[in-house]
Amino acid sequence: LEVLYTRHDLEKYLQRQQNLQQRLGFVPTMGALHQGHISLIEKSVAENHQSICSIFVNPEQFNNASDLSAYPRTPEQDLTMLEQAGCSAVWLPDVSVMYNGKSRTGFSFGNLESVLEGAFRPGHFNGVGLILAKFFNILRPDNTYMGLKDLQQFLIVRQLMHDLDIRGNLVPCPTIREPDGLAMSSRNRRLSESERQQAPIIHKTLQAIADNLNASEFQQTIAHAIANFNDHCQAKLEYLEIASLPYLQPIAAGEIPKQVAVCLAAWFGEVRLIDNLILTQTQTGWMPDQVILN
Ligand code: PAF
Repeated sequence: LEVLYTRHDLEKYLQRQQNLQQRLGFVPTMGALHQGHISLIEKSVAENHQSICSIFVNPEQFNNASDLSAYPRTPEQDLTMLEQAGCSAVWLPDVSVMYNGKSRTGFSFGNLESVLEGAFRPGHFNGVGLILAKFFNILRPDNTYMGLKDLQQFLIVRQLMHDLDIRGNLVPCPTIREPDGLAMSSRNRRLSESERQQAPIIHKTLQAIADNLNASEFQQTIAHAIANFNDHCQAKLEYLEIASLPYLQPIAAGEIPKQVAVCLAAWFGEVRLIDNLILTQTQTGWMPDQVILN
């Protein structure tokens, strides 16, 4: 594992790979790595000659200063995990390397940005777009691996790459879950013991919706699930919505999309967790899916 801090070290590494015509896989992260990240690294290692992971807690995408300072940082453990997963290089830039003063350029992602995470975290996707546009420009990866737990982020990045003609593929990767269904997230390690015990209700709620979904009764199914969540847990539900794919738009009465996502965000104490299930309509009902139809 090559550990790169400066732009100079990174450029030297990239030049070497380019000279050897190596296919480059890229996994962007904010560190505090878990098995979900490692599944992305392993996929990248299997599909590319070289795999680079970035670890950068991007201040521009935090709309809440305390969330930024509380974001877990475990650099030594991260490097060990990357090494074991066969990752070729890790880039750990300082904030001053990525941002020379405040960025003045902004993105607008249209409809995709005004719903769900975009509605509750103003400026968040602008920050995500900014850092990924920088990473893509600097690294020019052939394949970039991102998880579907952050479904809206994945769709925003896909749109960014399409609209800016950014070369390379964006590869969707399945959400990795704990045995009790909780989606793996760096934020999970901030949960207290009792919050951790309650958190699997997120996946149970999504799964119950998937099991009971009836196309003509989307809203009743969701209303029932919200009531059930609030009855069984002290977490504060921020949203539980069903949206059509691929733009995550609210579903109008009578509309039956081919594919939907059930998306949830909730606060367990100070910790905000999100999760989703993608469901595709089949002849036998709505089936969980990991592929986004266009
Ligand atoms: O999902 C994340 O960890 C971050 O949003 C990302 C993609 C690394 C951009 O900072």
